[in-house]
Amino acid sequence: MAQMCIALYVGLSLHLLFATVLHQGAADFVSTPPPPPTTSPPHKGPGVPAQGDYSVKNETGTVCLKAKMALQINITLHSASLNTIVQKVVNLNPNETASSGSCDKERAILKLNSPQQTELTFQFTLNTTSKRYNLNSVSISASWPDMAEGFSAHNDSLDYLQGNLGFSYMCRSEQTLEVSQNFSLKTYFLHVQPFGLTGDAFGSALECLLDQDDLVIPIVVGAALAGLVLVVLLAYMIGRKRSHAGYQTI
Ligand SMILES: *[C@@H]1O[C@H](CO)[C@@H](O)[C@H](O)[C@H]1NC(C)=O
Ligand SMILES: *[C@@H]1O[C@H](CO)[C@@H](O)[C@H](O)[C@H]1NC(C)=O
Ligand SMILES: *[C@@H]1O[C@H](CO)[C@@H](O)[C@H](O)[C@H]1NC(C)=O
Ligand SMILES: *[C@@H]1O[C@H](CO)[C@@H](O)[C@H](O)[C@H]1NC(C)=O
Repeated sequence: MAQMCIALYVGLSLHLLFATVLHQGAADFVSTPPPPPTTSPPHKGPGVPAQGDYSVKNETGTVCLKAKMALQINITLHSASLNTIVQKVVNLNPNETASSGSCDKERAILKLNSPQQTELTFQFTLNTTSKRYNLNSVSISASWPDMAEGFSAHNDSLDYLQGNLGFSYMCRSEQTLEVSQNFSLKTYFLHVQPFGLTGDAFGSALECLLDQDDLVIPIVVGAALAGLVLVVLLAYMIGRKRSHAGYQTI
Protein backbone atom coordinates (compact mmCIF):
# COMPACT_ATOMS: atom_id res chain seq x y z
CA MET A 1 0.00 0.00 0.00
CA ALA A 2 2.76 2.45 1.00
CA GLN A 3 4.67 1.55 -2.12
CA MET A 4 1.62 2.19 -4.25
CA CYS A 5 1.18 5.59 -2.68
CA ILE A 6 4.80 6.41 -3.31
CA ALA A 7 4.60 5.22 -6.90
CA LEU A 8 1.51 7.34 -7.36
CA TYR A 9 3.21 10.37 -5.86
CA VAL A 10 6.33 9.94 -7.99
CA GLY A 11 4.10 9.59 -11.04
CA LEU A 12 2.14 12.69 -10.14
CA SER A 13 5.25 14.74 -9.45
CA LEU A 14 6.79 13.75 -12.75
CA HIS A 15 3.53 14.51 -14.49
CA LEU A 16 3.37 17.93 -12.86
CA LEU A 17 6.98 18.61 -13.72
CA PHE A 18 6.57 17.69 -17.36
CA ALA A 19 3.26 19.49 -17.63
CA THR A 20 4.90 22.63 -16.25
CA VAL A 21 7.89 22.38 -18.54
CA LEU A 22 5.61 21.71 -21.49
CA HIS A 23 3.39 24.62 -20.48
CA GLN A 24 6.39 26.90 -20.36
CA GLY A 25 7.54 25.60 -23.73
CA ALA A 26 4.13 26.35 -25.17
CA ALA A 27 4.16 29.85 -23.66
CA ASP A 28 7.61 30.48 -25.13
CA PHE A 29 6.35 29.34 -28.48
CA VAL A 30 3.34 31.62 -28.35
CA SER A 31 5.39 34.64 -27.28
CA THR A 32 7.96 34.34 -30.07
CA PRO A 33 7.41 37.36 -32.26
CA PRO A 34 6.00 36.66 -35.70
CA PRO A 35 8.34 37.13 -38.65
CA PRO A 36 8.41 40.72 -39.90
CA PRO A 37 5.78 41.39 -42.54
CA THR A 38 7.03 42.14 -46.02
CA THR A 39 5.02 45.34 -46.28
CA SER A 40 5.98 47.97 -43.70
CA PRO A 41 3.46 48.12 -40.84
CA PRO A 42 1.49 51.37 -40.56
CA HIS A 43 2.49 52.12 -36.92
CA LYS A 44 5.88 50.91 -35.85
CA GLY A 45 6.64 51.17 -32.13
CA PRO A 46 9.65 53.20 -31.01
CA GLY A 47 11.16 50.30 -29.04
CA VAL A 48 11.69 50.01 -25.30
CA PRO A 49 12.09 53.40 -23.58
CA ALA A 50 14.96 54.26 -21.23
CA GLN A 51 14.42 54.33 -17.50
CA GLY A 52 14.26 57.73 -15.83
CA ASP A 53 15.03 58.49 -12.22
CA TYR A 54 12.66 61.13 -10.87
CA SER A 55 12.06 62.58 -7.44
CA VAL A 56 10.02 65.25 -5.72
CA LYS A 57 11.03 67.22 -2.61
CA ASN A 58 8.66 68.70 -0.06
CA GLU A 59 8.80 72.16 1.48
CA THR A 60 11.60 71.23 3.86
CA GLY A 61 13.71 69.92 1.00
CA THR A 62 13.32 66.22 1.87
CA VAL A 63 12.68 63.73 -0.90
CA CYS A 64 9.03 62.71 -0.49
CA LEU A 65 8.42 60.84 -3.76
CA LYS A 66 10.75 58.66 -5.79
CA ALA A 67 10.00 57.09 -9.15
CA LYS A 68 12.21 55.08 -11.45
CA MET A 69 10.35 54.29 -14.60
CA ALA A 70 10.51 53.91 -18.34
CA LEU A 71 7.46 55.38 -20.03
CA GLN A 72 5.85 55.08 -23.43
CA ILE A 73 3.00 57.38 -24.38
CA ASN A 74 0.29 56.12 -26.70
CA ILE A 75 -2.14 58.69 -28.06
CA THR A 76 -4.89 58.07 -30.56
CA LEU A 77 -6.04 61.14 -32.43
CA HIS A 78 -7.71 62.30 -35.55
CA SER A 79 -5.24 63.78 -37.99
CA ALA A 80 -6.80 66.60 -39.95
CA SER A 81 -4.11 66.54 -42.62
CA LEU A 82 -4.46 62.78 -43.23
CA ASN A 83 -8.17 62.80 -42.44
CA THR A 84 -7.81 59.59 -40.54
CA ILE A 85 -7.23 58.19 -37.04
CA VAL A 86 -3.54 57.89 -36.21
CA GLN A 87 -1.71 56.44 -33.23
CA LYS A 88 1.25 58.35 -31.91
CA VAL A 89 3.52 56.18 -29.80
CA VAL A 90 6.38 58.10 -28.22
CA ASN A 91 8.99 57.21 -25.61
CA LEU A 92 9.69 59.71 -22.89
CA ASN A 93 13.39 60.54 -23.01
CA PRO A 94 14.56 60.75 -19.37
CA ASN A 95 17.62 62.84 -20.25
CA GLU A 96 15.39 65.65 -21.48
CA THR A 97 12.65 65.29 -18.90
CA ALA A 98 12.40 67.53 -15.85
CA SER A 99 10.51 66.43 -12.78
CA SER A 100 8.69 68.59 -10.25
CA GLY A 101 5.73 68.22 -7.96
CA SER A 102 4.53 68.44 -4.42
CA CYS A 103 3.66 66.26 -1.46
CA ASP A 104 1.33 66.52 1.47
CA LYS A 105 -0.03 63.95 3.91
CA GLU A 106 -2.55 62.34 1.59
CA ARG A 107 -1.47 63.48 -1.85
CA ALA A 108 1.74 63.32 -3.84
CA ILE A 109 2.07 64.81 -7.29
CA LEU A 110 4.75 64.13 -9.86
CA LYS A 111 4.96 66.30 -12.98
CA LEU A 112 7.19 65.34 -15.88
CA ASN A 113 7.98 67.93 -18.51
CA SER A 114 9.83 67.28 -21.70
CA PRO A 115 10.96 69.98 -24.13
CA GLN A 116 8.84 68.28 -26.82
CA GLN A 117 5.82 70.04 -25.33
CA THR A 118 4.71 67.11 -23.23
CA GLU A 119 3.52 67.37 -19.67
CA LEU A 120 2.53 64.29 -17.71
CA THR A 121 1.05 64.55 -14.23
CA PHE A 122 0.68 61.66 -11.81
CA GLN A 123 -1.28 62.00 -8.61
CA PHE A 124 -0.94 59.43 -5.85
CA THR A 125 -3.34 59.31 -2.92
CA LEU A 126 -2.79 57.81 0.51
CA ASN A 127 -5.71 56.41 2.44
CA THR A 128 -4.64 57.21 6.00
CA THR A 129 -7.14 54.71 7.43
CA SER A 130 -6.06 51.67 5.46
CA LYS A 131 -2.47 52.94 5.08
CA ARG A 132 -2.61 52.08 1.39
CA TYR A 133 -1.77 54.28 -1.55
CA ASN A 134 -2.55 54.20 -5.24
CA LEU A 135 -2.12 56.17 -8.44
CA ASN A 136 -5.55 57.70 -8.79
CA SER A 137 -5.04 60.36 -11.44
CA VAL A 138 -3.00 60.77 -14.62
CA SER A 139 -3.15 63.63 -17.05
CA ILE A 140 -1.31 64.62 -20.18
CA SER A 141 -1.06 67.65 -22.35
CA ALA A 142 0.97 67.50 -25.51
CA SER A 143 1.39 69.58 -28.58
CA TRP A 144 3.77 67.82 -30.89
CA PRO A 145 4.94 69.42 -34.16
CA ASP A 146 2.91 67.13 -36.42
CA MET A 147 -0.26 67.53 -34.40
CA ALA A 148 -2.99 69.64 -35.91
CA GLU A 149 -3.94 70.85 -32.44
CA GLY A 150 -2.88 70.23 -28.86
CA PHE A 151 -3.89 67.03 -27.17
CA SER A 152 -4.96 66.64 -23.59
CA ALA A 153 -6.57 63.92 -21.54
CA HIS A 154 -7.01 63.06 -17.90
CA ASN A 155 -8.67 60.57 -15.62
CA ASP A 156 -9.14 61.15 -11.89
CA SER A 157 -10.73 57.84 -11.00
CA LEU A 158 -7.90 55.42 -11.61
CA ASP A 159 -6.73 52.76 -9.19
CA TYR A 160 -3.25 51.72 -10.30
CA LEU A 161 0.05 50.96 -8.56
CA GLN A 162 -1.47 50.07 -5.20
CA GLY A 163 0.97 49.78 -2.34
CA ASN A 164 1.27 49.88 1.42
CA LEU A 165 2.59 52.89 3.31
CA GLY A 166 6.30 52.48 3.97
CA PHE A 167 6.76 50.11 1.04
CA SER A 168 7.63 50.83 -2.55
CA TYR A 169 5.76 49.45 -5.53
CA MET A 170 7.71 47.58 -8.18
CA CYS A 171 6.76 46.20 -11.58
CA ARG A 172 9.52 44.89 -13.80
CA SER A 173 6.99 43.53 -16.27
CA GLU A 174 5.49 45.65 -18.98
CA GLN A 175 2.28 47.21 -17.73
CA THR A 176 -0.29 49.24 -19.64
CA LEU A 177 -2.13 51.96 -17.76
CA GLU A 178 -5.30 52.81 -19.65
CA VAL A 179 -6.08 56.42 -18.84
CA SER A 180 -8.75 57.37 -21.34
CA GLN A 181 -10.17 56.06 -24.57
CA ASN A 182 -7.46 57.77 -26.60
CA PHE A 183 -4.53 57.79 -24.21
CA SER A 184 -2.60 55.04 -22.48
CA LEU A 185 0.79 54.77 -20.83
CA LYS A 186 3.01 51.75 -20.96
CA THR A 187 5.46 51.35 -18.09
CA TYR A 188 8.60 49.27 -18.16
CA PHE A 189 10.86 48.68 -15.14
CA LEU A 190 8.74 50.66 -12.74
CA HIS A 191 9.75 51.34 -9.14
CA VAL A 192 7.91 54.01 -7.24
CA GLN A 193 7.26 55.21 -3.70
CA PRO A 194 4.98 58.22 -3.26
CA PHE A 195 4.71 58.17 0.56
CA GLY A 196 6.57 57.20 3.70
CA LEU A 197 10.13 57.53 2.44
CA THR A 198 12.73 57.48 5.16
CA GLY A 199 15.84 59.06 3.76
CA ASP A 200 16.80 58.81 0.13
CA ALA A 201 16.25 55.09 -0.41
CA PHE A 202 13.20 53.10 -1.46
CA GLY A 203 11.42 51.05 1.19
CA SER A 204 11.06 47.29 0.68
CA ALA A 205 9.37 46.58 -2.62
CA LEU A 206 6.00 44.97 -3.14
CA GLU A 207 6.01 43.37 -6.60
CA CYS A 208 3.12 43.61 -8.98
CA LEU A 209 1.08 40.52 -9.85
CA LEU A 210 2.55 40.43 -13.36
CA ASP A 211 6.01 39.88 -11.87
CA GLN A 212 4.72 37.24 -9.46
CA ASP A 213 3.28 35.22 -12.35
CA ASP A 214 6.80 34.94 -13.71
CA LEU A 215 7.82 33.32 -10.42
CA VAL A 216 5.11 30.65 -10.34
CA ILE A 217 6.74 28.26 -12.81
CA PRO A 218 10.13 28.03 -11.06
CA ILE A 219 8.31 27.55 -7.73
CA VAL A 220 6.17 24.69 -9.06
CA VAL A 221 9.20 22.98 -10.59
CA GLY A 222 11.19 23.47 -7.38
CA ALA A 223 8.40 22.10 -5.21
CA ALA A 224 7.95 19.03 -7.43
CA LEU A 225 11.69 18.34 -7.34
CA ALA A 226 11.82 18.73 -3.56
CA GLY A 227 8.86 16.33 -3.28
CA LEU A 228 10.66 13.77 -5.46
CA VAL A 229 13.80 13.91 -3.33
CA LEU A 230 11.73 13.41 -0.20
CA VAL A 231 9.90 10.41 -1.67
CA VAL A 232 13.11 8.74 -2.81
CA LEU A 233 14.59 9.27 0.65
CA LEU A 234 11.46 7.84 2.27
CA ALA A 235 11.43 4.83 -0.04
CA TYR A 236 15.08 4.21 0.75
CA MET A 237 14.43 4.35 4.50
CA ILE A 238 11.39 2.07 4.28
CA GLY A 239 13.36 -0.34 2.14
CA ARG A 240 16.19 -0.46 4.67
CA LYS A 241 13.76 -1.13 7.53
CA ARG A 242 12.10 -3.93 5.54
CA SER A 243 15.33 -5.70 4.73
CA HIS A 244 16.41 -5.30 8.34
CA ALA A 245 13.17 -6.88 9.54
CA GLY A 246 13.66 -9.62 6.95
CA TYR A 247 16.99 -10.63 8.43
CA GLN A 248 15.52 -10.88 11.90
CA THR A 249 12.82 -13.37 10.87
CA ILE A 250 15.33 -15.79 9.36
C1 LIG B 1 -1.65 52.14 -28.82
O1 LIG B 1 -3.02 52.16 -28.40
C2 LIG B 1 -3.91 51.56 -29.35
C3 LIG B 1 -5.33 51.79 -28.86
O2 LIG B 1 -5.49 51.39 -27.52
C4 LIG B 1 -3.54 50.09 -29.50
O3 LIG B 1 -4.40 49.49 -30.46
C5 LIG B 1 -2.08 49.97 -29.97
O4 LIG B 1 -1.72 48.61 -30.01
C6 LIG B 1 -1.17 50.71 -29.01
N1 LIG B 1 0.19 50.69 -29.57
C7 LIG B 1 1.25 50.30 -28.87
C8 LIG B 1 2.58 50.31 -29.58
O5 LIG B 1 1.18 49.92 -27.70
C1 LIG C 1 8.85 66.54 4.41
O1 LIG C 1 9.09 65.12 4.39
C2 LIG C 1 9.65 64.63 5.59
C3 LIG C 1 9.93 63.14 5.37
O2 LIG C 1 8.86 62.47 4.82
C4 LIG C 1 8.68 64.87 6.75
O3 LIG C 1 9.24 64.40 7.95
C5 LIG C 1 8.36 66.35 6.85
O4 LIG C 1 7.37 66.55 7.84
C6 LIG C 1 7.88 66.91 5.51
N1 LIG C 1 7.72 68.33 5.60
C7 LIG C 1 6.64 68.98 5.16
C8 LIG C 1 6.64 70.45 5.32
O5 LIG C 1 5.71 68.38 4.65
C1 LIG D 1 -9.90 54.12 3.17
O1 LIG D 1 -9.84 52.79 3.59
C2 LIG D 1 -10.94 52.42 4.42
C3 LIG D 1 -10.65 51.03 4.97
O2 LIG D 1 -10.25 50.13 3.95
C4 LIG D 1 -12.21 52.50 3.59
O3 LIG D 1 -13.32 52.11 4.38
C5 LIG D 1 -12.39 53.92 3.09
O4 LIG D 1 -13.52 53.99 2.23
C6 LIG D 1 -11.16 54.38 2.33
N1 LIG D 1 -11.28 55.81 2.04
C7 LIG D 1 -11.19 56.29 0.81
C8 LIG D 1 -11.30 57.78 0.68
O5 LIG D 1 -11.03 55.58 -0.17
C1 LIG E 1 -11.17 56.44 -16.13
O1 LIG E 1 -10.68 55.19 -15.69
C2 LIG E 1 -11.70 54.31 -15.28
C3 LIG E 1 -11.01 53.09 -14.67
O2 LIG E 1 -9.98 52.58 -15.49
C4 LIG E 1 -12.56 53.97 -16.47
O3 LIG E 1 -13.58 53.07 -16.09
C5 LIG E 1 -13.18 55.24 -17.02
O4 LIG E 1 -13.88 54.97 -18.20
C6 LIG E 1 -12.07 56.27 -17.32
N1 LIG E 1 -12.70 57.54 -17.64
C7 LIG E 1 -12.44 58.18 -18.79
C8 LIG E 1 -13.06 59.52 -18.94
O5 LIG E 1 -11.78 57.69 -19.69
